[in-house]
Amino acid sequence: MQPTIEWTNDTVVMIDQRKLPVREIYVRCRTASEVARAIRSMVIRGAPAIGVAAAMGIALGMRRSRATGTKQFATEFQKTCELLAATRPTAVNLFWAIERMKQVFAATAAAGASVDDLRERLTVEAHAIHDEDVASCRAMGAFGAALVPQNARILTHCNAGALATAGYGTALGVIRGAVEAGKKVTVLADETRPFLQGARLTAWELVKDGIDTTVITDNMAGAMMRLGHVDLVVVGADRIAANGDVANKIGTYSVAVLAREHGIPFYVAAPISTIDLATPDGSRIPIEERPDREVTHVGTSRLTPTGAHVRNPAFDVTPSRYVTAIITERGVARAPFEGSLSALVHGGLTVTGS
Ligand code: MRU
Repeated sequence: MQPTIEWTNDTVVMIDQRKLPVREIYVRCRTASEVARAIRSMVIRGAPAIGVAAAMGIALGMRRSRATGTKQFATEFQKTCELLAATRPTAVNLFWAIERMKQVFAATAAAGASVDDLRERLTVEAHAIHDEDVASCRAMGAFGAALVPQNARILTHCNAGALATAGYGTALGVIRGAVEAGKKVTVLADETRPFLQGARLTAWELVKDGIDTTVITDNMAGAMMRLGHVDLVVVGADRIAANGDVANKIGTYSVAVLAREHGIPFYVAAPISTIDLATPDGSRIPIEERPDREVTHVGTSRLTPTGAHVRNPAFDVTPSRYVTAIITERGVARAPFEGSLSALVHGGLTVTGS
């Protein structure tokens, strides 16, 4: 599979996720504004991938800058960071990546670096964020694989795969890790209305990998659980609050409640960059409302009568009491999450809980 996002000759190239699985076409961004537009319009989506795109967008923007002095360069850098930060509000990886770029800028500037040095250092950092994300996903996959039984039937919601990251995936990384560990698994992919990340993207990735995948509409998940067709659920996250509440794609909360009702483990796989210890609980996580058209239409076909009101919150919050464990690249956190998440964020490589 072509990478989700890559940097080639001072251009950021992304597979256009709006067009998958029907067409595999690539969008080439040559400016920070083009990257910002690509994030806002869902050419690229998924929390870690958005973070990588933002970092690359900043690096790209600053490579294009005509500033000759560091003062003007710093002003442009600030504006570029603001442009990228205004794209999508929920996934904290976006703000985490921008903050990391700001810290690198500040440290490099404080050491008396030239504009050219600053440009180079920002580019190196954006590449590092990309490469670390792939490594994190692989580590998550290895930790998560241990939680997947042989012959597991796994339900996932949305797309938390290679397309949502710099590669390999978080929730799908766990599935890939289990397969690489020699386990036979089958996957139920929720279609994930309204943007259909499950039906279009998760199914596309898994079929390409030769993993047995069945797409179901979102309202079938409960029946599948009741019939005994699901052994575990694994999903990604856009932001995890300090108490373990998880913001993820709309519909995740329903899946988590259903899983609890049926005694099915509900796992969340996410990198440390998704954990937001500054947000105490899920009620403080900003939830993006996306355009009505995503609900009223499928492609160009209208589904709803004009005059009907529409809601389109892109994410929901699953209270931590429904979460069996959170799988990160540093280990697996279990309740009480205040302690286990903070230990993973501040500590080194730790496996908490059992
Ligand atoms: O609106 P999207 O497609 O960006 O939402 C993506 C999700 O909700 C994913 O589950 C989440 O970002 C985790 S991706 C590894």
